[in-house]
Amino acid sequence: AAIKKYQFDVVMKNVSRLCDAKPIVTVNGMFPGPTVYAREGDRVIMNVTNYAQYNISIHWHGLKQFRNGWADGPAYITQCPIQSGRSYTYDFNVTGQRGTLWWHAHILWLRATIHGAIVIMPKEGVPYPFPQPQAETELVLGEWWHADVEEVEKQGNMLGLPPNMSDAHTINGKPGPLFPCSEKHTFAMEVEWGKTYLLRIVNAALNDELFFAIAGHNMTVVEIDAVYCKPFTTNGILIAPGQTTNVLVKADKIPGRYFMAARPFMDAPIAVDNKTATAILQYKCVPTTVIPILPQLPAPNDTKFVDDFLGKLRSLNSPQFPAKVPLNIDRHLFYTVSLGIDPCPTCLNGTRLTASLNNITFVMPQIGLLQAHYFNIKGVFGLDFPDKPLNTFNYTGAPLTANLGTSLGTRLSRIPYNSTVELVLQDTNLLAAESHPFHLHGYNFFVVGRGIGNFDPTKDPAKFNLVDPPERNTVGVPTGGWTAIRFRADNPGVWFMHCHLEVHTTWGLKMAFVVENGNGPEESILPPPKDLPPC
Ligand code: C2O
Repeated sequence: AAIKKYQFDVVMKNVSRLCDAKPIVTVNGMFPGPTVYAREGDRVIMNVTNYAQYNISIHWHGLKQFRNGWADGPAYITQCPIQSGRSYTYDFNVTGQRGTLWWHAHILWLRATIHGAIVIMPKEGVPYPFPQPQAETELVLGEWWHADVEEVEKQGNMLGLPPNMSDAHTINGKPGPLFPCSEKHTFAMEVEWGKTYLLRIVNAALNDELFFAIAGHNMTVVEIDAVYCKPFTTNGILIAPGQTTNVLVKADKIPGRYFMAARPFMDAPIAVDNKTATAILQYKCVPTTVIPILPQLPAPNDTKFVDDFLGKLRSLNSPQFPAKVPLNIDRHLFYTVSLGIDPCPTCLNGTRLTASLNNITFVMPQIGLLQAHYFNIKGVFGLDFPDKPLNTFNYTGAPLTANLGTSLGTRLSRIPYNSTVELVLQDTNLLAAESHPFHLHGYNFFVVGRGIGNFDPTKDPAKFNLVDPPERNTVGVPTGGWTAIRFRADNPGVWFMHCHLEVHTTWGLKMAFVVENGNGPEESILPPPKDLPPC
């Protein structure tokens, strides 16, 4: 194992897109930011220095940070932000994981421009469990706003209005020629006929689940969220914010120029967003004057495609990479996932949109929850997050305003070390049903079940896949439906869980688990680093 050192300078940079230039917050002046390369087993030392006027923290999305929540990054959950002019070193080991993950700012909406891929290669000499590609490329899907993204966030937070949507989707920071003035902002990937390529696809968009496809070419999905899966071939993928997907593509079609394209999946849109980001798959020696063709993307509301696609995701579950699905469950949790409206005297129309789990809208604390837990600082959070909703009702029936009210609180759920947890996330129709990609920090989990309508505890568990369910760190809760996940709580710490649609996180769709220490020192939270940012 090696030590990989990186210097991340958070700096403002003038970037032009869509006929306009504006200053954005970046890492090292790059958009997207630099790819972090490591090998399984390496130690990574990331020094982050903040030269911008914003407070910053950076999350290494999908890295488990075993016993080491200090390096996890979500602001006010595991650390206070790195203030302007200060530095913090994220020091962590990449243990037992290999594949594509990503990093992003974890404060306000700054991840709009502060994000990049993480590529973890298998240990030296260990091949992939699929045909070896001749080359690899990262494709980071994102969004671009004309407006200052922090102003867009305030619109949702302080004015109580739904924030504006982005002006473009992007592939590796570039929208592609379907957008005005964007011919020159088009990512192109050159391929040689007959070769196989590994695409490491990341969805870094703030608020959109995306379909992605390549004209004329199928893709073979081989890995999701840095876990190998049973390979299957598809003409398109669905990828939610937070998720990563590795696909193999063979350049064996008529040499030409083909569009790769990404466009939102929206089965319950408040406002339809059908902006299509494009990039080009360019066969070597084909003149750039050839006009590329667009792929067939599923329609924005194609839930049939989504069901089929998600149904094909299975853990590889080989002797080398077994799926260790917890079979006996110590803690059964059931959380409703809701959007709602609360009174807001200071907001423009007297109300504001909220989001809640078990009707609790999460309130961000003023100091890091991990510090509060580790140093036993009282009064920062409660440990009374309910294991199930206080009222049962027809979650996905007609909108039920009686259940709209939420309570505010910084309430966490305590889990004894090493216990096995099953969590059912149930979308509701309180205000409007919508799909929610949920991310759990500190763990991967197994997605053992998924369904439309209300979860039925007497029937649905019998249908769970406990053999080779997909293992991931971010999973979609379907519109008007539920998802069941299982994990073993073997990583002590305070771990954030939230919807990865930034607008919903802002409205309060988040909570955290306190996983207690085990008995031995090897089962306890590591001491905090000396340079942990003060609050
Ligand atoms: Cu990728 Cu808490 O986030």
